Amino acid sequence: MALIKVTDRDGIEHDVEGNPSFTLMENLRDLDYGVAAVCGGMCACATCHVYVDAEWLPRLPPMHSDERDLLSDLSTFRPNSRLSCQIKFAAELAGLKVRIADDE
Ligand code: FES
Repeated sequence: MALIKVTDRDGIEHDVEGNPSFTLMENLRDLDYGVAAVCGGMCACATCHVYVDAEWLPRLPPMHSDERDLLSDLSTFRPNSRLSCQIKFAAELAGLKVRIADDE
């Protein structure tokens, strides 16, 4: 297990034990912090949108065009936006800091 530092929509920080065999979304969706993941990780809904801490952003795998296209259509898009379903969590990402994005 590796820690994920999650800030919810109320600004409250939580330390979550992440499972490295899951995506970031799968690690977050069963918590009550606002990751609905309606499409189940098919890169089709953006309800798994998170903001990644600037320090961590370059350490994540690059975005594919599908993810970029979906995110860029959101009014809540920011330069540090990512879809958590497109990020495979891994032990090397222990300490990853994300904030759950605002509802669209
Ligand atoms: S779960 Fe739908 S886009 Fe990530």
